[in-house]
Amino acid sequence: MATLSINNKQYALQSGERLIDVILRSEVEIPHVCYHPQLGPIQTCDTCMVEVDGKLARACATTALDGMKIATDSASAKAAQIEAFDRILGNHLLYCTVCDNNNGNCTVHNTTRMLGTEHQETPYKPKPYERDFSNPFYRYDPDQCILCGRCVEACQNLQVNETLSIRWEDLHPRVLWDGGAPIGESSCVSCGHCVTVCPCNALMETTMLGEAGYFTALPENSIQGMIGVVKGIEPEMGYGAILEVSEVDAEMRSSRTRRTKTVCTYCGVGCSFDVWTRGRHILKIEPEHGPANGVSTCVKGKFGWGHVNSEDRLTTPLIRENGSFREASWDEALALVARRFTEIKRASGPDSLAFISSSKCTNEESYLMQKLARAVIGTNNMDNCSRYCQAPATIGLFRTVGHGGDSGSISDLEQAELVIIIGSNTAESHPVLATRIKRSHKRGTLKLIVSDLRENEMARRADLFIHPKPGTDLIWLSAVTKYLIDSGQAKTDFIRQWVNGADEYRKSLEPFTLEFAIERCGLTRDTLLQIAQMIVAARSVCVCWAMGVTQHSMGSDTSTAISNLLLATGNYMRPGTGAYPLRGHNNVQGASDHGAMPNYFPGYQKVDDPAIRLKFEKAWGVALPPQPGLNNHQMIDAIHEGKLKSMYVFGEEMSLVDSNANYVASALAKLDFFVMQEIFFSETCRFADVILPASPSLEKEGTFTSTERRIQRLYQALEPLGQSRPDWQIIMDIANYLGAKWNYAHPSEIYAEIAPLTPIMEGVTYERLEGYKSLQWPVAPDGSDQPLLYTERFNTPDGKAKFFPLTWSEPADQPDSAYDLHLNNGRLLEHFHEGNLTYRTEGIREKVPCTFVEVSPELAENRGIQDGTLVELASRYGKVRVQAVVTDRVKDNELYMPMNSIDEPVNLLTSSHTDKDTSTPAYKEASVKLEVIHPTGPPPLPHSNSRYGHPTPQRGVEVERKWKRSDYRLPGGLVQIQTK
Ligand code: SF4
Ligand code: SF4
Ligand code: SF4
Ligand code: FES
Repeated sequence: MATLSINNKQYALQSGERLIDVILRSEVEIPHVCYHPQLGPIQTCDTCMVEVDGKLARACATTALDGMKIATDSASAKAAQIEAFDRILGNHLLYCTVCDNNNGNCTVHNTTRMLGTEHQETPYKPKPYERDFSNPFYRYDPDQCILCGRCVEACQNLQVNETLSIRWEDLHPRVLWDGGAPIGESSCVSCGHCVTVCPCNALMETTMLGEAGYFTALPENSIQGMIGVVKGIEPEMGYGAILEVSEVDAEMRSSRTRRTKTVCTYCGVGCSFDVWTRGRHILKIEPEHGPANGVSTCVKGKFGWGHVNSEDRLTTPLIRENGSFREASWDEALALVARRFTEIKRASGPDSLAFISSSKCTNEESYLMQKLARAVIGTNNMDNCSRYCQAPATIGLFRTVGHGGDSGSISDLEQAELVIIIGSNTAESHPVLATRIKRSHKRGTLKLIVSDLRENEMARRADLFIHPKPGTDLIWLSAVTKYLIDSGQAKTDFIRQWVNGADEYRKSLEPFTLEFAIERCGLTRDTLLQIAQMIVAARSVCVCWAMGVTQHSMGSDTSTAISNLLLATGNYMRPGTGAYPLRGHNNVQGASDHGAMPNYFPGYQKVDDPAIRLKFEKAWGVALPPQPGLNNHQMIDAIHEGKLKSMYVFGEEMSLVDSNANYVASALAKLDFFVMQEIFFSETCRFADVILPASPSLEKEGTFTSTERRIQRLYQALEPLGQSRPDWQIIMDIANYLGAKWNYAHPSEIYAEIAPLTPIMEGVTYERLEGYKSLQWPVAPDGSDQPLLYTERFNTPDGKAKFFPLTWSEPADQPDSAYDLHLNNGRLLEHFHEGNLTYRTEGIREKVPCTFVEVSPELAENRGIQDGTLVELASRYGKVRVQAVVTDRVKDNELYMPMNSIDEPVNLLTSSHTDKDTSTPAYKEASVKLEVIHPTGPPPLPHSNSRYGHPTPQRGVEVERKWKRSDYRLPGGLVQIQTK
């Protein structure tokens, strides 16, 4: 085993390890200000100087080698560390007690303490710049900025938004946004990476300002007075005494600041972090240990928590009476629900009721909802919103490889040599996952192909961006597969060993010639050959896809074509390969995994399999319905047909997010009895008879499962507001009012019931998920999980995958002379889906106040449209009025409308056409006509939106430019600095 000595003691090292990591692991104290393990060596601070075989070197930039002799405490190393840190203090005023960042984890404070610095040689010099408060979420204070460059590195090479830089050649360098713009007018997407990694108070969340400390809320002049006092006594007392006072203050703060681990409530990436609260005030989100995200977040996860304390939270049950709602007690509301459910079941049978679970809520809550439907009511009419997006991807994977989930982890995407993104606006819909792809792409280790109608950020970064005609992805995927097989470039050994059905599949590919693809997709031969060549050239290929594939009438088949291509090219069963259907909501994977589906018990166990049903009957002590129930699309039809009388929906904005919203709303209005469980009075609540106030994620415990099948615990940070209750408690209450006698005291008890009934979750326990620990299913009884699926076999009876033959048919709802424009739609970075949660964060509203429609420059010129023009879009199903944004992100007669609207939802325009295999609405197949209503108006997006910024891409902090400054010299020459 390789070893090195640190201060004359031997320590083991791993090949390629950074010296600083070995030192830190050995628990030898070493100062390090700019180094952050998730950012790598930045080399700006010089505080980590050590002697390596007798010569001074930066520990963070040195690779540890066998036999090295390291001294961290020699006179020259110490002197260099002290000198380097002294220079840092020339950029930073130590006034810890009145600092918002004095919370025990300030790197500058702690390094001052570690080095025993009492006085500084380098005088503090303020910089000639104002503080910048122009971003709603964070502020920059140049006078406190130590120019460590962590923020720049995070922005350039981790988030890869490329907004930040430091112009080292300036007389007074500082951090620059877009080379010198106010933050609020820059390309900053407010992801918060820079704020999270800043080692001091130079970048602070605005929610922390004046809120964190006992003295930090004082008026500015009082704070300046206190800083003056601190600085006045420093020459006599030294920093030691001053730090002691501030450490008492930090200790006092810790008694009233709660730090609670939670999991993001927005998208399926599964970021986890600590939320800091003081009372009900959310001080900040502090990411660091999340297995999916580390220090990363996007604007929603970092700053989008305004919904939690929003004034319009539902805090008491409501009952409809004489056309309006009145407040009611829980007892009255629950008794009414139980009575009406019982009456309807008696009169019309259990299948006249239906249940929709929420993919925003926990696994335990989905489990209880399906148990309520099946075991208490007696129906399989149970679904969740994966029907609207991910069910086709699940089917495509079931058909070919056997598990309905991502075949690997986000780390596999990061290490792939080629990532193909199809129909996914990844940088906005799965921002943190996108950062990992962008980072590898920027490093040059990953090539990127993007297929999309719209030139989104990933498309702009791609090595190859293709724009096939709407609804034709299946064709080019199959044509490229056929070409690779026919030209002998498929992985025949892999196919022979691992894939069934090759002959039949090869035959089914006959129609998919390159010529057919050229004609139907509108792609050139060269483009198709380039795709094939890039796939062959890459040793590992991952395909990511999302709603741009699944929300089509051929969504399941196109998902299947993706998996077929991966099988034909041997891109399963290895790290850096596989299929990644990116799950939208934070727990849409978990809702399906835990049985909120009409045909599956938890763990995708079929309801019509007698042996499985018997298992659940025994466990639950009741007879269970044998036939699959209605999915949520079929439920709406069944209401219109008079078969479905009652629904219970929690955390799902059906009347806005279902396709053909007018049709859905008119169905909901026909229900005899409708129960909604929500945190706000949503649009769907308008149709309810009883509304039950629920708790958002920060007010409850449970687990979420992210897109990479990662199960994580969330802990309760706040008490439920008013009389609101966690959803699992409400579902249990209803079951018990119906006579069920459930008795769960905590969600862990629910999971203890789920695990033994669900083979893929068998080894899941709350203990194994403690803190930041996580498990990626399937989880064996001994707790071992599978970050990478299919390492030894596929999930099929004989362990082999299967090619699935496909045909292609025309998309539904195509443009014609009356409806001449194609309307695409999707998510935005800032708002989650329709925006019910995110509109309640003021800063997000400031950046994106309303919805809009993107119009191409060509179409804008034809129709006399400019930014701000009010247009009416009309489809065969409804109409909306929205303002235009003219952008070359869209082309010709294709429009794009984001989903973020409650007043003018895009789903008033979408149809009831569905994917033939899953009933997933073909949201992406919509044709509209456009009429200009007001030619001019204020632009719908403010100038401060990040899309109008001008990023400044560079390699990172580019520290070599600092080293070239005439006033820079490597520390180590100085011996004297006064210490204890
Ligand atoms: S995009 Fe903005 S918030 Fe994110 S790291 Fe860059 S500057 Fe910071
Ligand atoms: S603002 Fe950036 S450069 Fe300045 S101290 Fe913070 S992380 Fe370092
Ligand atoms: S919305 Fe998604 S990417 Fe953003 S912080 Fe939450 S989980 Fe992470
Ligand atoms: S920690 Fe090594 S140079 Fe900053």
